[in-house]
Amino acid sequence: MSQSAYIAPIVDSTSSFKNDIFAGKVLFCTGGASGICRGMTEAVMRHGANAVIIGRRLDRLEQASKELSAATGRTCIYAQADVRQPKSLKEAAQKAIDVFGRIDFVICGAAGNFMAPISGLSENAFKTVIEIDTLGTYNTIKATIPYVRASKGAYISVSATLHYNATPYQVHVSAAKAAVDALSNVLAVEEGPHGVRSNVIAPGFIAGTEGFDRLANKDDKSHGFSAPLGRFGDVKDVANATVFLFSDAASYVTGQIIPVDGGAEHLRSTFFPYPQSVLDPTSVQKLMKGKL
Ligand code: COA
Repeated sequence: MSQSAYIAPIVDSTSSFKNDIFAGKVLFCTGGASGICRGMTEAVMRHGANAVIIGRRLDRLEQASKELSAATGRTCIYAQADVRQPKSLKEAAQKAIDVFGRIDFVICGAAGNFMAPISGLSENAFKTVIEIDTLGTYNTIKATIPYVRASKGAYISVSATLHYNATPYQVHVSAAKAAVDALSNVLAVEEGPHGVRSNVIAPGFIAGTEGFDRLANKDDKSHGFSAPLGRFGDVKDVANATVFLFSDAASYVTGQIIPVDGGAEHLRSTFFPYPQSVLDPTSVQKLMKGKL
């Protein structure tokens, strides 16, 4: 990160929002066992909600649900499911209903990513990311919508900013996240009259997450990145946006895509040297970790 005149503070959601605003509410979060989605879940729980986290890995789910419950004083349960499997998501939603009796908030957060150029991306690799990100979001919405309608609740889909410009080596994720944005907007229009809101959070570079590590340029930790607000994002930045969007303060906000990136989208160019990196992919191979 280049030198900045100003560095935005990192703020706990509990210092900005009342503690009990989500008392009696239930959150259903795919990808909630780790990274950004875990931070979003923790913040919603800190404001009074119970939660169900959904993921593929049982060990991670068990540990995260224990830690989230201990940290927040609320109850976090888990359901093992692959968002590519509609049946397993329906079972997870049923578990939420059996245990808590309702679902108010849904975070469609499970995602997959790696760096690879189109030339090295197999059909299966492209399809895998579309299936996790786009179909996974669709499947999550389908599994939960009757309950979210009943509670007049809200959705947040986790997207990205990398498809606002063309980002090399991210064609699969760019296509998947563009579809997620569109899906959320249509959901907002169709479900608004039923009392359901749907918004997208588009995190920028959020430090200390698996996604950041996967995409990280080990040789240049700055990634040539700069943001008007002077630093990489923090999970707490996304958590604050989450609490706002689920809160009554956002009761007139739907169908929006909200980047949480310190304003970086307005300064973005490709984070690899251009055009050297696409003319000679071997020059960045060790950075992208993908097949050529
Ligand atoms: N470059 C090119 N292709 C890659 C790749 C890479 N770095 N990593 C995986 N693939 C390809 C595989 O080779 C496979 O294609 P093939 O059958 O033609 O060989 C395809 O992608 C599916 O990979 P597989 O490992 O079988 O899928 P999976 O369902 O086990 O894993 C991924 C899904 C690939 C998205 C994996 O990265 C993952 O599980 N990610 C979850 C966590 C994550 O990405 N978090 C970051 C969020 S930003």
